[in-house]
Amino acid sequence: MRNEIIIEDVKHIVAEKLRNEATGHDWWHTLRVYNTSMDIAAAEGKGDRLIIGLAALLHDVADHKFGYTDADREAIITDILTPFELSDSVIEQVIYIVNNLSFKQGKNKHVLETIEGRIVQDADRLDAIGAIGIARAFAYGGHKDRPLYDPEHSEDPDSDTIGHFHEKLLLLKDGMHTEAGKQKAVARHTRMEQFLKDFHSEWDGHQ
Ligand code: ADP
Ligand code: NI
Repeated sequence: MRNEIIIEDVKHIVAEKLRNEATGHDWWHTLRVYNTSMDIAAAEGKGDRLIIGLAALLHDVADHKFGYTDADREAIITDILTPFELSDSVIEQVIYIVNNLSFKQGKNKHVLETIEGRIVQDADRLDAIGAIGIARAFAYGGHKDRPLYDPEHSEDPDSDTIGHFHEKLLLLKDGMHTEAGKQKAVARHTRMEQFLKDFHSEWDGHQ
């Protein structure tokens, strides 16, 4: 089967799966990570596009946050990919990336060693910064009933959403693996810095 057709089919399967996911972990995040991964791969001229595409599309189908173990995830991904008659090596490489992707506050189980994994990790982290990252952070904070900003407690972990920028989002730029990822991260980082400046200025009653 042609790679483009496999990717299109997997897109449909994942969109359906994430739409029905009770936690609402969203398909549009997955699609953005896929598109950003492809953009980075094109700019770098590196990486196997099929492995990058599949790993990006499958990276959130069975996330540990929702109680899935590594074994559950391997079973779910293998089930999705088996009908496409891919080689074991392709399936193994995709599972390796998905299992090692998350940024766990620096306690990553493993530093991704393949270029395909590094590209998808850059793309996933890029979706947490810039304009989209700002929107996602406040959506997450609202879901957790956190205030936008609490000047008296902003330095306490998980107290307000502005604090999350300093705890995590402003640090992501320096963790990029690829040159293309770094370039995107610098632009998105600048947007967050501008946003924080404007936010504090308006907070204080200025322009
Ligand atoms: P991923 O989609 O890569 O698995 P997470 O589930 O960790 O990422 O986070 C989803 C989104 O919620 C990200 O944009 C992240 O920045 C944001 N987020 C996570 N924790 C917080 C927090 N404490 N405050 C605000 N936003 C958060
Ligand atoms: Ni993600």
